Amino acid sequence: MSTSKKPSESFTVMNEIVLPNDTNTLNNLMGGRLLHWMDIVAAIAAQKHSNNIVVTASVDGVSFKEAIRLGDVVTLQAYVTRSFNSSMEVYIEVFAQNIPRNEQYKCNDAYYTFVAIDSRNRPIPVPTLEPETEDEKLKYEGALRRRQIRLVMAGKLDKDQATELKAYLNE
Ligand SMILES: CC(C)(COP(=O)(O)OP(=O)(O)OC[C@H]1O[C@@H](n2cnc3c(N)ncnc32)[C@H](O)[C@@H]1OP(=O)(O)O)[C@@H](O)C(=O)NCCC(=O)NCCS
Repeated sequence: MSTSKKPSESFTVMNEIVLPNDTNTLNNLMGGRLLHWMDIVAAIAAQKHSNNIVVTASVDGVSFKEAIRLGDVVTLQAYVTRSFNSSMEVYIEVFAQNIPRNEQYKCNDAYYTFVAIDSRNRPIPVPTLEPETEDEKLKYEGALRRRQIRLVMAGKLDKDQATELKAYLNE
């Protein structure tokens, strides 16, 4: 197994079209369906990084800024922004496109965390990540702070040990 990978190696694109069974009574895409698609594209990215089975450990707060309409094409893009021991943070961006009207817009973005597991469901090590572009480097740097927020919220890290978070709040 390679010990280090680049974000481009996990980059994943997924397209869906919003069908009647995906919508609410306003003919807009249901939030739960979008979260499901985001989970799938992000899990594929995490699998590409780890070459392993992964499970979703957490989903950061997702805001639905723009409604996505019946018939729109939804494009989801995902890549790993940082890995730790067994866990990987994945960044997902969602775009909607109305092809007949030639309209395209970004709907939302989010971070999901996945853990690579073995056949007995035990976490196993994953390759490290080597960011290349400026944006990848920024996301990589911020990932430690976001990890500490998640683990404090999940009751898995004492807030006094969240050094990155404390430094950020005191900036
Ligand atoms: C995610 C899971 C594998 C973590 O297992 P665990 O026994 O708590 O293991 P650990 O405490 O040793 O943590 C393992 C890794 O998960 C990370 N993790 C655990 N809980 C987390 C959370 N809430 N958010 C982000 N990362 C988390 C830890 O930081 C650790 O990462 P690291 O190895 O990179 O340092 C386990 O909780 C699980 O299987 N959950 C169910 C997953 C699932 O079914 N998802 C689909 C939803 S239905």
